[in-house]
Amino acid sequence: MEVIIRPSAESAAELTARLIQKAIMEKPELVLGLATGHTMEKVYDKLVEIHKSEGLDFSLCTTFNLDEYIGITHRNKSSYWFYMNKHLFTRINIDLRNTHLPNGMAEDYTAESEKYEQMIKEVEGIDFQLLGIGKSGHIGFNEPLSALQSRTREKALSPVTIKQNSKYFDPPESMPKRAFTMGIGTILDAKRIVLLATGKKKAEIIAKAVEGPVTSMISATALQLHPKTTVIVDEDAASNLKEQEYYRWIFENEPEWEQFK
Ligand code: F6R
Repeated sequence: MEVIIRPSAESAAELTARLIQKAIMEKPELVLGLATGHTMEKVYDKLVEIHKSEGLDFSLCTTFNLDEYIGITHRNKSSYWFYMNKHLFTRINIDLRNTHLPNGMAEDYTAESEKYEQMIKEVEGIDFQLLGIGKSGHIGFNEPLSALQSRTREKALSPVTIKQNSKYFDPPESMPKRAFTMGIGTILDAKRIVLLATGKKKAEIIAKAVEGPVTSMISATALQLHPKTTVIVDEDAASNLKEQEYYRWIFENEPEWEQFK
């Protein structure tokens, strides 16, 4: 794992978008794993800008989102399907037939989960997985005690997550209590992972996820087991990290980061 600290939420999101751009330019038929949430909005805005101003071509890309709420339709403005179409898919030249989210209205949870895993397998896995992190330490909706080898499945949301996300529902009590989510094992199968976290509210959980012991109580700690994970944070989200000096040195001195300065 490596940690990159950027001066602001904007520059952290821009670096994330630039990494996605580089991956698409190296492999136009990239399989992208995508996240939703407030943090990702800046990344998607930047990708749209790069698409418009520099012609970044998404036409051959395939996407798989991490998760979707159970029991709400595509038309629901709080569904992740709606979010992805609003913030990204309808603003770039991706073929909508190549964009995938679990079907929140599926009645057979096991069949839907297995189908999602199978679709990922058929495209030979995810090349680049984008992640955010919840205050519970979740990646996707892998709440505390998710097995570190878990696969796509239906998961009950924790009280911390319900508190974090119910503001996106009207009324807040209508927020579903369950979701489909890729498992931690599914996420760890991705060839490259980038987790983005910004803001003071994420400082505590980022310190635990990056520098704490690996534990199923904090799903994001499982990323320490992955051979190619980059955590990108702004100054606020980095503020509780003990080894900040080392992480800053890496960005300044490792040749890989030269082109992003
Ligand atoms: C959503 C997802 C979640 C979010 C996390 C952070 O698809 O995978 O893990 O990334 O809850 O959400 P925000 O960015 O709203 O703080």
